[in-house]
Amino acid sequence: MAIVLIRQDGKLDLWKRALLDQFPALPLYLYNEPHPKDEISMAIVWKHPQGSLGQYPNLQSVASFGAGVDFIIEDHSRPTGIPITRVVDDALADDMAEYVLTAVLGHLKNMDQYARDKQTTKWKPRPYSRIVDHTVGIMGLGTLGTHVGKALIKLGFRVIGWSRHPKTQPGIEVYHGAAQQKDFLNRTSILICLLPLTSETKGILNKSNLSHLQQGAYLINVARGGHLVEEELVPLLDSGQLSGACLDVFQQEPLPEKHPFWKHPLIKITPHVASVSDPKSVVPQLAENFRRLQNDEPLLNQIDLDLGY
Ligand code: NAP
Ligand code: GLV
Repeated sequence: MAIVLIRQDGKLDLWKRALLDQFPALPLYLYNEPHPKDEISMAIVWKHPQGSLGQYPNLQSVASFGAGVDFIIEDHSRPTGIPITRVVDDALADDMAEYVLTAVLGHLKNMDQYARDKQTTKWKPRPYSRIVDHTVGIMGLGTLGTHVGKALIKLGFRVIGWSRHPKTQPGIEVYHGAAQQKDFLNRTSILICLLPLTSETKGILNKSNLSHLQQGAYLINVARGGHLVEEELVPLLDSGQLSGACLDVFQQEPLPEKHPFWKHPLIKITPHVASVSDPKSVVPQLAENFRRLQNDEPLLNQIDLDLGY
């Protein structure tokens, strides 16, 4: 039994070193060097070439290097029914909370506008808003959404959430399901998307749904680019229905040079860095799942294959 690592973002060696530093005996191969395909029982992947999982006849599990698994679900070359696991990690959750707090507070105090004013040496005080003025709505109240919600509550924000199933979360009024989506959006002045990308959530940040937000609401998408119907965002900003957007994820990454989002003054762009798996912190759960696989024990952090998250 052996592991293959598949990712194309230049971080393969970093992860290999991190895994072997902590677990020197792991039988580990990189996908882009010769390796015995029939020995591979576990693939650890991040945005791997679609179809590449089909070359491992004895594959027994696929692990995501991150929290999201959408790119694994989409690869139908993987053997059906084998467990898919994802990263659940305190450092990843802390990083996400810090990113969202930065975006939210920057919005309240017009920080983007002042950065633009500086380009034109404009001295122009603008009215700001306060924490008490806002209701932050978190779409996707799972591991990350809940952690972000708690961090916002600590600062004094009113926080509401929306999930698939009903749930209780101290300090957060939780809406659930399609039937309660509109009521949730109606109350929201800052919307944070932390949903997984599934067939149900694809395109959920569309004109119709975003029009239910409070007038002048602010959008923060830190989930996946596929949640946002990109061509519907600019008209919502230009009409004032939305006052701005902070986007970390895009339908195509890197965001193409000619994409209209680059030049739009009300769109803040970061290159998918809201929270990035830290090898040191994540390696133990990956190695533990390989040990469990070898011993026929249930794996940690499995997704529900029917729900796709
Ligand atoms: P998670 O724990 O699986 O939570 C997902 C949440 O979404 C759950 O609350 C779930 O509801 C809800 N949900 C799923 N489908 C829904 C639907 N159809 N309607 C309503 N609610 C629905 O996931 P997570 O660990 O928090 O991560 C969320 C996503 O963040 C990841 O999938 C990934 O795409 C993204 N992410 C981005 C970055 C970045 O750097 N930008 C970093 C890490 C993760 P239930 O609770 O009822 O099941
Ligand atoms: C990052 O986008 C992740 O899914 O961990």
